[in-house]
Amino acid sequence: MSLIQLIDLPNFGDQRGELVAIESNQSIPFEIKRLYYIFKTKNQSRGFHAHINLKQVAICLKGSCRFVLDNGHLKDEILLASPTKGLLIESLIWREIRDFSDDCVLLILANEHYNENDYIRNYQAFLNKVST
Ligand code: TYD
Repeated sequence: MSLIQLIDLPNFGDQRGELVAIESNQSIPFEIKRLYYIFKTKNQSRGFHAHINLKQVAICLKGSCRFVLDNGHLKDEILLASPTKGLLIESLIWREIRDFSDDCVLLILANEHYNENDYIRNYQAFLNKVST
């Protein structure tokens, strides 16, 4: 079993270039309520949290970065380096994002609005939560 669930995003590219279209409840398995993007990261690792309910899809639009996913039992990692691949991150997955390339632009799609109460930012608290 792997925690890495990659979505092939529909690419309508032709001789003029690439065109990826993303729709809620189509290639993305939830309704998108929020998106945010991370860039100019200065190669500072980030994440270091899990969400209680939130689901996300991460798409590296430019450059590359590494996701380490952890469900408290298993850890898997993947280098995201394609704007046509989405990494599905289910709830209760601890995530760390590292090795940002200087040009990395990372887009995150989420199924809920921002809610600090949905975050678990302490790793031991995360382990306690997934073991109950
Ligand atoms: P944070 O969750 O620490 O980012 P990361 O998971 O990449 O380490 O978020 C950084 C700041 O941005 C924090 O003050 C909360 C704020 N923020 C929002 O207001 N809305 C959002 O949708 C997100 C993702 C963060």
